[in-house]
Amino acid sequence: MLKVDIKNICCIGAGYVGGPTMAVIADKCPDIKINVVDLNELRIASWNSNDLEDLPIYEPGLKEIINRVRNKNLFFSTDTERYISEADAIFISVNTPIKVSGLGAGQASNLCWVESCARQIARDAKGHTIVIEKSTLPVRTAEIIKEIIISSTNSSEGDSKTFSILSNPEFLAEGTAIDDLINPDRVLIGGDDNFAIQSLIEIYSRWVDRKKILSTNLWSSELSKLVANAFLAQRISSINSISALCEATGADISEVSRAVGLDQRIGSKFLNAGPGFGGSCFKKDILNLVYLCNFFGLKTVADFWEQVISINDWQQKRIYELIVHKLFGNIYGKKIVLLGFSFKANTNDTRESPSIQMSKYFLDEGANLTIHDPRVSRDQVSKELCNYRKKIGNFRGYWDFESDVYKSIENADGIIILTEWEEYSKLDWKKISNLVRKPGWVFDTRKIADKDSIKKTSLNYWSVGEG
Ligand code: UDX
Ligand code: ADP
Repeated sequence: MLKVDIKNICCIGAGYVGGPTMAVIADKCPDIKINVVDLNELRIASWNSNDLEDLPIYEPGLKEIINRVRNKNLFFSTDTERYISEADAIFISVNTPIKVSGLGAGQASNLCWVESCARQIARDAKGHTIVIEKSTLPVRTAEIIKEIIISSTNSSEGDSKTFSILSNPEFLAEGTAIDDLINPDRVLIGGDDNFAIQSLIEIYSRWVDRKKILSTNLWSSELSKLVANAFLAQRISSINSISALCEATGADISEVSRAVGLDQRIGSKFLNAGPGFGGSCFKKDILNLVYLCNFFGLKTVADFWEQVISINDWQQKRIYELIVHKLFGNIYGKKIVLLGFSFKANTNDTRESPSIQMSKYFLDEGANLTIHDPRVSRDQVSKELCNYRKKIGNFRGYWDFESDVYKSIENADGIIILTEWEEYSKLDWKKISNLVRKPGWVFDTRKIADKDSIKKTSLNYWSVGEG
């Protein structure tokens, strides 16, 4: 093992994790050269666009950093081979979605992109290289990466390449990624090569208090990431389950959340009831945990965690059924407006967004759906609803996208707030009450709308967890 002074980083994957993470490292370490590479030429072109509004991901504070560091010590390219070969350290930040078919379908992660990275690294790296897994990965992936890299390099004759494999899971949340990266609660580095761990600590310690940088073994690091996300998701399912009880009993979920969260042992964060969690991590990580538990014969533990997902699905179905019920049990041909398509505010990411499943429920009922989101494009909505295009086959409902929020609401029978974008908390309900078809309904699944203003109009109002 060797001590490496990291001066040249390559990050494979220019997505929601790789882009912001490397931007912050570049900003904090001007002497380190960072190349972010991706197979996706369009994505790289967007990262290199002169117009900072064209960056492929929307994240508050990101464009300012990109403006400072791009083409100084941060570069975006498709030349994977070259930048792998120049790097002292390589971050793997590629996508690891749940498998849609084959063994472990619906539960295990598809590691084909990670595997292909490992093979590229084995082929193109030179000298000693620290390989750091950054993507959220199932436990033991580092072992797989290690095995692929080591067996591939052994087979190339006369090779003097060596590698250290570390796990350095990402805890950033989209929408607050920059702040999470600059002020992390902790940085976790897992591995068995102390020299490599020290090299990475030296990077993070430029802006993170050393007391917050934890080093563990590889397994603990990988598992901690899954467990942290499972615990967070569990809180959301817990509060969502209680939202239904509040609606039935006349309690108010905001009051219950506040009262419960003031107990310091519980804490106030992640207690907002809503349409269920979305995003690329929670479901995937819990499913990985479930898969792992079943693999090790811990069926009761697997069943326990699986319930977190069941409640999430149930919450969406419950809200959809309730909406249909309020609209006289029929939404065929009615105009339903979905406000918000991203899985949370301040991101344009739609992966696992509750809005996708909700759209499908309404479209299956034959509703005419209009979708609005301040940051998600029509094309992105189209990708997510690909099997639900206008009037295809037996399908009766159709969807449309409207970028002007008030226009989207014209003649609506029901308005459903699904993402907590700030602009939805400032809507002019008096104006809206004159735009909708009577009797108009507002369904607020995020509890952000100005309830007092709505109640002054003729609009009917329902919000999650309010009896
Ligand atoms: C999550 C983890 O927070 C982060 O540490 C990890 O690195 C990646 O996964 P992210 O998915 O980006 O981050 O966003 P997060 O803020 O955790 O929200 C996830 C989902 O939970 C969103 O759909 C959000 O709307 C929902 N949520 C969150 C609630 O419904 N209620 C809450 O109180 C908090
Ligand atoms: P995340 O949220 O984990 O960042 P994204 O899907 O936003 O996930 O980004 C992952 C990126 O990794 C994608 O842009 C994809 O094109 C890229 N990618 C996947 N495999 C490879 C590979 N072998 N080489 C380069 N880029 C890759």
